[in-house]
Amino acid sequence: MNYICILNPKHTNILQSSRGSFTSRFGATVAVGGSVVGLGNIWRFPYIAGENGGAAFIVVYILMSLLIAVPIMLSELSIGRQVRLGLHGAMEKLAPGRPWKYTGTLGVATALVIVSFYCVVAGWALNFLGRSVVNDFAGQSPAEITGGLKLFIDSGWRPVVWMSVFLALTSGIVFFGVEKGIERFNKILMPLLALMLVGLGVNSLFLDGFREGITFVLKPDFSKIDGGVVFQALGQAFFSLSIGMGAMTVYGSYVKKHESLPRIAGTVAVSDVCIAILSGIAIFPAVFTFGINPTSGPELVFMTLPNIFQQMPGGYWISIAFFAILFMAAITSSVSLVEAIVVWLSEEFRMTRRRALALATGTVFALGSLCAVSQMEGSSLRVWGMDIFDLFDRASSTVMMPIGALLIVLFAGWAMDKAMLRAELTSEGRFARRLFVPLRFMIKWVCPVVIALLFLNQIGLI
Ligand code: TRP
Repeated sequence: MNYICILNPKHTNILQSSRGSFTSRFGATVAVGGSVVGLGNIWRFPYIAGENGGAAFIVVYILMSLLIAVPIMLSELSIGRQVRLGLHGAMEKLAPGRPWKYTGTLGVATALVIVSFYCVVAGWALNFLGRSVVNDFAGQSPAEITGGLKLFIDSGWRPVVWMSVFLALTSGIVFFGVEKGIERFNKILMPLLALMLVGLGVNSLFLDGFREGITFVLKPDFSKIDGGVVFQALGQAFFSLSIGMGAMTVYGSYVKKHESLPRIAGTVAVSDVCIAILSGIAIFPAVFTFGINPTSGPELVFMTLPNIFQQMPGGYWISIAFFAILFMAAITSSVSLVEAIVVWLSEEFRMTRRRALALATGTVFALGSLCAVSQMEGSSLRVWGMDIFDLFDRASSTVMMPIGALLIVLFAGWAMDKAMLRAELTSEGRFARRLFVPLRFMIKWVCPVVIALLFLNQIGLI
């Protein structure tokens, strides 16, 4: 769930004078929280956790979210609040004429890659919403549900159609500029989503696979951890917290000077982690109950959920509500990702917003279709042993976002004035004064070193 726009650096004065801000810390926390909670928690977290052995991965993921991702998020928020601009404009203003601003360009490229596969998954969610309404899953066995999903994906054109419907809705919202209205839903949607997950978690207690599922999620086997697992955990933390691409810089620019950034970032990160774990607790007992392989990949959650709803009392309605909420969570994110691309296009190439939107939508349609079609059985659209969907999914969170994050912390730690960083992190000495020294140490040294080491490890240099 999200609403951002990367601001136009060339019109900063206009924007500065007309720029609104969040009215309270609660408002800011909900808006940032709305950004981070999305398909990343409900769809991606369980499948990545499943592939990486469960509980041990989850422990590393929590550590990465709280220790590494939070300082990065704080760097982004600080940069944004300091100059009240998006990443590209902010870096240009703080370090004029230097190449830092291309971090913002990388952020836009990351948004494009993410939104391409995000729309495909959101299309699945939309298809599942439609099928829930017509009660299509009724009476199907787990094998039939899995088989149905495979048939759907293998048809190639059906996922493209659903993705297109989703993309058209996204572009329509961007076109009519009704994001603000959508954003208001966040306040209702997020608690509702959390509540539904708690409900599904309670329901898990009664499933045969409860013990096995909970053991998988909560009982770590640390022998399963290697460099690759840690790297996946880092990527998931970045993806789920929307960091490393400038989204948080825009939010930071809306936060009032007297609010505490560490409090906002801390609350958001803890909530995001909790929602992901709730999703794990809802999913994995069912995965084991219905004999689904936890390493099934991106399809995992979609294979599992219809089975859960079928055995629940009132499952028909719960299923509709769940996929509707998932769809809403996804569309608020895709709107902001498309918006980021549109603003960049219209600034860099002096295009009208209409043209920029048409071009962005066309590009996302082409790339998204490529992702969807590459998932067909026997498709030759493969690179390095991955289909295009997988490639985009992996490349964004394990290459593009970490590089973006690395540049952002290096900027905040080394290029940005220390007094400025302190002013932002402590809200001019109001809060968390004692936190500044350790936080800056994390930003300056620990985050860059951890990201760099994991990178070098992944490319086989160490
Ligand atoms: N965090 C979002 C999710 O969990 C996905 C995301 C990543 C995102 N980067 C973003 C959303 C930037 C909006 C803007 O689903």
